[in-house]
Amino acid sequence: MCTECLARRSTGSLRMALTQAWLMLSPIIILCSLCDRGSAEPSSTTWNAALFRPAYQSSEDAADPRNASLANDGNATSCQRTGNGSESWWHVDLLGQMMVESVWITGSDCNNGKGYTLGYFSLNVFTEQPPPDDSGGQVCHNYMLYAENATVNIKCDKTISGRYVRISHLSNTSSICEFKVMVTNNTQFNKYVGWKNSTLEGPVIRSLNTSRLECANHCLSARRAPDPMYCTAFNWVPGTRLCQLMQEDPRIFKSSKLKQSIHGYFYIEDLR
Ligand SMILES: *[C@@H]1O[C@H](CO)[C@@H](O)[C@H](O)[C@H]1NC(C)=O
Ligand SMILES: *[C@@H]1O[C@H](CO)[C@@H](O)[C@H](O)[C@H]1NC(C)=O
Ligand SMILES: *[C@@H]1O[C@H](CO)[C@@H](O)[C@H](O)[C@H]1NC(C)=O
Ligand SMILES: *[C@@H]1O[C@H](CO)[C@@H](O)[C@H](O)[C@H]1NC(C)=O
Ligand SMILES: *[C@@H]1O[C@H](CO)[C@@H](O)[C@H](O)[C@H]1NC(C)=O
Ligand SMILES: *[C@@H]1O[C@H](CO)[C@@H](O)[C@H](O)[C@H]1NC(C)=O
Ligand SMILES: *[C@@H]1O[C@H](CO)[C@@H](O)[C@H](O)[C@H]1NC(C)=O
Ligand SMILES: *[C@@H]1O[C@H](CO)[C@@H](O)[C@H](O)[C@H]1NC(C)=O
Repeated sequence: MCTECLARRSTGSLRMALTQAWLMLSPIIILCSLCDRGSAEPSSTTWNAALFRPAYQSSEDAADPRNASLANDGNATSCQRTGNGSESWWHVDLLGQMMVESVWITGSDCNNGKGYTLGYFSLNVFTEQPPPDDSGGQVCHNYMLYAENATVNIKCDKTISGRYVRISHLSNTSSICEFKVMVTNNTQFNKYVGWKNSTLEGPVIRSLNTSRLECANHCLSARRAPDPMYCTAFNWVPGTRLCQLMQEDPRIFKSSKLKQSIHGYFYIEDLR
């Protein structure tokens, strides 16, 4: 049902579309909004396109499994960890071709404070799903990070267009606590999945009084740096036009967290 919107995006025209559809036997609603913010907006600021996007790693550390998603959950004290092997990698799917400017990496102290956390690694950007051996990627930068718990801002040697960003040659003592991919593209995403008669209690980052589409717009535009607010979800109440912006990890969101709320709606980013 979002096909029309996606088609419009490829024309590059500045058009918005609001499509709602009821799925049979289900209270789920798809709100397809903001399919193109076009080139009308300035692209001087960057934003982190990696947060809450699907993340993958070459293997789990059997002794101490820590999910790939822990490296891009917005929490710099939860860290991923790959298993042993010199060809270890972690990558994120940005779910769209983006102009990648730089990568921020926060490492951890997982070698008992004895040494560097990330060895000589390479950062590559791919337009297609990357193969295990990194072929077909464009090098953002190769880097040696020694400092424990440090956050480094690695500017790509040039701006690279791509969808997947991979860090490779992770050592078995390395662990990434937060991985941000700063892009210059206008904030963009395709659709929300929603529930009628349901709202999420919060925490609410910002409350507004708007139409539903404006609410979705506000949620998106708040994402751009330097504003630290990263909205992924919102409540909307038609009667009062109440719009409550929230941050939820759409990868692990459970609808059981919703409370019944007559005439209220809850929408969250749809990563499918
Ligand atoms: C960890 O990864 C597995 C498989 O990729 C996934 O099913 C699970 O939900 C993830 N756990 C968290 C907390 O993200
Ligand atoms: C961040 O991760 C740490 C370690 O897993 C956890 O203890 C803490 O509760 C998390 N913080 C938030 C805000 O989820
Ligand atoms: C990694 O490999 C080394 C040597 O092969 C082994 O001693 C060590 O236990 C392995 N570590 C993990 C976490 O599997
Ligand atoms: C990001 O910008 C590039 C270059 O202008 C464009 O090719 C790409 O489609 C844009 N991606 C999104 C998701 O808008
Ligand atoms: C890194 O973080 C760990 C865990 O929070 C802490 O024990 C350690 O002292 C930190 N190391 C440095 C150099 O700050
Ligand atoms: C990491 O791997 C190297 C080479 O396989 C091995 O010598 C070393 O013991 C491993 N370290 C840990 C902490 O597993
Ligand atoms: C939402 O609540 C209204 C009022 O009680 C009710 O008429 C409607 O059927 C409910 N819709 C759903 C999808 O539960
Ligand atoms: C939102 O604005 C409308 C008028 O545009 C008003 O009727 C309504 O009471 C307002 N709701 C809230 C929560 O302020």
